[in-house]
Amino acid sequence: MASMSFLALALSVATVTAQTFVPLRFAGVNIAGFDFGCGTDGTCNVTQACPPLTQLGCADGLGQMQHFVENDGYNVFRLPVGWQYLTYSQMTGVLNETQFYNYNMLVNACLSTGAYCEIDIHNYARYDGEIIGQGGPSNEVFAELWYNIADYWKYENRVIFGVFLMKLDGYTQDIVTWAGSVQAAVTAIRSTGANSQIILLPGNNYTSAETFISSGSAAALNMVRNPDGSITNLVMDVHKYLDYDNSGTHAECVTNNIESSWYPLSMWLRENGRQALNTETGGGDVDSCVGYLSQQLAYQAANSDVILGYIGWAAGSFATNYILSETPCYNGTGWNDTLTVSTALSPMTNMLVSSVA
Ligand SMILES: *[C@@H]1O[C@H](CO)[C@@H](O)[C@H](O)[C@H]1NC(C)=O
Ligand SMILES: *[C@@H]1O[C@H](CO)[C@@H](O)[C@H](O)[C@H]1NC(C)=O
Ligand SMILES: *[C@@H]1O[C@H](CO)[C@@H](O)[C@H](O)[C@H]1NC(C)=O
Ligand SMILES: *[C@@H]1O[C@H](CO)[C@@H](O)[C@H](O)[C@H]1NC(C)=O
Ligand SMILES: *[C@@H]1O[C@H](CO)[C@@H](O)[C@H](O)[C@H]1NC(C)=O
Repeated sequence: MASMSFLALALSVATVTAQTFVPLRFAGVNIAGFDFGCGTDGTCNVTQACPPLTQLGCADGLGQMQHFVENDGYNVFRLPVGWQYLTYSQMTGVLNETQFYNYNMLVNACLSTGAYCEIDIHNYARYDGEIIGQGGPSNEVFAELWYNIADYWKYENRVIFGVFLMKLDGYTQDIVTWAGSVQAAVTAIRSTGANSQIILLPGNNYTSAETFISSGSAAALNMVRNPDGSITNLVMDVHKYLDYDNSGTHAECVTNNIESSWYPLSMWLRENGRQALNTETGGGDVDSCVGYLSQQLAYQAANSDVILGYIGWAAGSFATNYILSETPCYNGTGWNDTLTVSTALSPMTNMLVSSVA
């Protein structure tokens, strides 16, 4: 009897041990600016781009990223850019050498910090108002664009390919057809030999974590495969804000999204053997956001087997008074973070991320 209860005790200890906290793999910040001038209809006025590089005239993105890595323990940055910026407003998959060189200066600045760097084509699955593969650029043109980007970066393991930011369009847009366009991009990326990198798969409705399952995105994107049939490094791309309408346009936060989004999504991911990265989240510099963001991040970390991490929106060329600004302020000797970064999002503060935990 004594040995039986010892066994029972040993088993329960083993169970507790198995549930020991495992930190999130990634925490990061969006370094925006190359995407400025782009609208949700997929139009981009390239003259309004504000590259977050001092040598190209806007914010000191390199200094920001160095600060975020060294002082806060961040380990990934998402680098939004308009398709039109990269092709100099030609609807083509052929990159403009000068424009791609400029953007790659930001990618290189990011890589120089030791972080992972996500290339994010921020066009809402569109080009000049038309949906890719559904009246807009063909899947072949889309695949060529990604082939050319991936071919350049195929030897760099710390580059992440963020296929596209997606938005909802009442009736024209079909999620299964969209998954076919995503598949074309994945096949093109892998065909360059870029086999080790993470590719992020975006769904409908601004790839909302809340409607990822109900919108059919999860099921449709679950069909996307690497050329060898595997799903290795094909990660679901999900967004979620904490304001009342999930638009990320209000300072106040009203939810931690756990019940509506992170709990059901985590269950689905686990049941289907998939993982997700939350590439946009955030809130204003107010107490409600500090509280709810902290709860959301703790829940994500408690589900780090299926949720890889989070990337806040946004720093880079955003002014420090932008409603969701995570842009730190340089005071002459050092960088001063915003309230939500310093009290909730910074890995050094929350200790939820592998880079510091
Ligand atoms: C693009 O932006 C520039 C600078 O803001 C503006 O002068 C120009 O009219 C815009 N072009 C279009 C087509 O909207
Ligand atoms: C590439 O972009 C530059 C501006 O950066 C422009 O001057 C040049 O004409 C473009 N080249 C082509 C081939 O379109
Ligand atoms: C999109 O997602 C948000 C929550 O993230 C939800 O409130 C909204 O109803 C969704 N829109 C549609 C059309 O499904
Ligand atoms: C500038 O910011 C750094 C880093 O946050 C801080 O240590 C320093 O005290 C600040 N200096 C001034 C003059 O505010
Ligand atoms: C910098 O620090 C001050 C208080 O020390 C704070 O009010 C301000 O919001 C901080 N952040 C930025 C980005 O300026």
